[in-house]
Amino acid sequence: MTDVVWGGRFSAQPDPTMFDLTASIGFDITLLDEDLRATTAHARVLEAAGILSADEVESIRSCALLISQRAAAGELDLTGHEDIHSLVESSLTEALGDAGKRIHAGRSRNDLVACDLRLWCLSSATALVDSTNELIQTVVELGKEHVTTVMPGYTHLQRAQPISLAFHLAAHGFAFLRDAERFNAARSAADVSVLGAGALAGNTLGLDAQIAADELGFSSVFDNAMDAVSDRDFACDLAYASALCGVHLSRLAEEIVLWTSAEFGFARLADEWSTGSSMMPQKKNPDMAELIRGRAARTIGDLTGLLGVLKGLPLAYDRDLQEDKEALFSSVARTLGCLQGMIGLLRSLRFDVERMNAAAAAGATWATDLAEKLVARGVPFRVAHEATASLVSELEISGASLGEITGDDLARHHPAFEADDVSAADPAVGMSARSSHGATAPDRVLEQLTALAQRAELVTRG
Ligand code: ARG
Repeated sequence: MTDVVWGGRFSAQPDPTMFDLTASIGFDITLLDEDLRATTAHARVLEAAGILSADEVESIRSCALLISQRAAAGELDLTGHEDIHSLVESSLTEALGDAGKRIHAGRSRNDLVACDLRLWCLSSATALVDSTNELIQTVVELGKEHVTTVMPGYTHLQRAQPISLAFHLAAHGFAFLRDAERFNAARSAADVSVLGAGALAGNTLGLDAQIAADELGFSSVFDNAMDAVSDRDFACDLAYASALCGVHLSRLAEEIVLWTSAEFGFARLADEWSTGSSMMPQKKNPDMAELIRGRAARTIGDLTGLLGVLKGLPLAYDRDLQEDKEALFSSVARTLGCLQGMIGLLRSLRFDVERMNAAAAAGATWATDLAEKLVARGVPFRVAHEATASLVSELEISGASLGEITGDDLARHHPAFEADDVSAADPAVGMSARSSHGATAPDRVLEQLTALAQRAELVTRG
């Protein structure tokens, strides 16, 4: 026997195949606690309208608690139920009789499912903000240890200018800070009560939508009932914030893959956070980083899937909207997992400071700083650029390094070069000299790390 809440006008049971293919209980069971909360809030609304007695509301409240406890103990039988809403309603009716039969007055599964999903998005967004904050604090802690650790900064994956590892990590940190802010904004988007919208156009019972909003702790109430049941913008906001966070995690993951390769050799993976090969005994692989990179693709897929579901829907509710949930559930769960994975991975990385420094010292990464020395002495930048470029190409041919040449060698390329300019050969000098706003000098980076930690905490506190 199937349990549907709409059987009255039908003379036959749903075909079992159709039932299985349309039922959502397999995944919307995730919304059990939200549905119980929304149902209890609606009971309060019905009490205020004189449709339920105070005793009935109390019995609904205690029964909701029992259902939740039975679910937690794995004792809830989902068989035959179409969705979470019919499961809750029939469980109430079974336990309470008439009070259960009265609960659906003035509401529809359309406003109920939107309400449940909004509640779920609220707590999910909070969990995402918290995890993102934890990642940012991890980046800051690691950064503080490496304010003077020099590495090459890259453009086009070619060595460009010496920077500190802390500066590089902080750059990722600011992307994650924007993610935290986006998760927070997605939380605000979900923070609107839609109970009372009914199927699409409200009710004739004079129900007070504000009561449900207050009971559930929503900050505001819907404006238009039709919009309230068809709007999934809040879900898209959360899916987008997750997808972009996935992209940011993936970019850092890609760098960890590069850094831990023998070719770069900038960092070593801890045994606990790497994997081996079933065939090649020597291998140590960055699978966690690769999976974070790969999973970003699926989170992007969840976002595009969700947008695709919505794009052709006539107002108001259409059953297609049932397809919003799995995309959202999987995208949030995956993002939380990837955030935790990245935190573990970062904490376990052991950086090879010597090797990073050597890489920063090679490849004439001092060239821009040297040209800027000429500019500071009044030489036009284009002239300084050419003079430094001719020095770079001469050194490339001779194989000498900047530290090995004399003031006279420099002067052949431009008279404004000074003998001491060769000190730029030390990448630490170049890294520290870039002390402009938001740049890589240790003091500037410490400011950035402090700002990151503080702003992430602020976002977390909402
Ligand atoms: N399982 C449905 C969903 O997720 C619940 C709402 C069903 N509403 C309806 N009118 N059939 O969207």
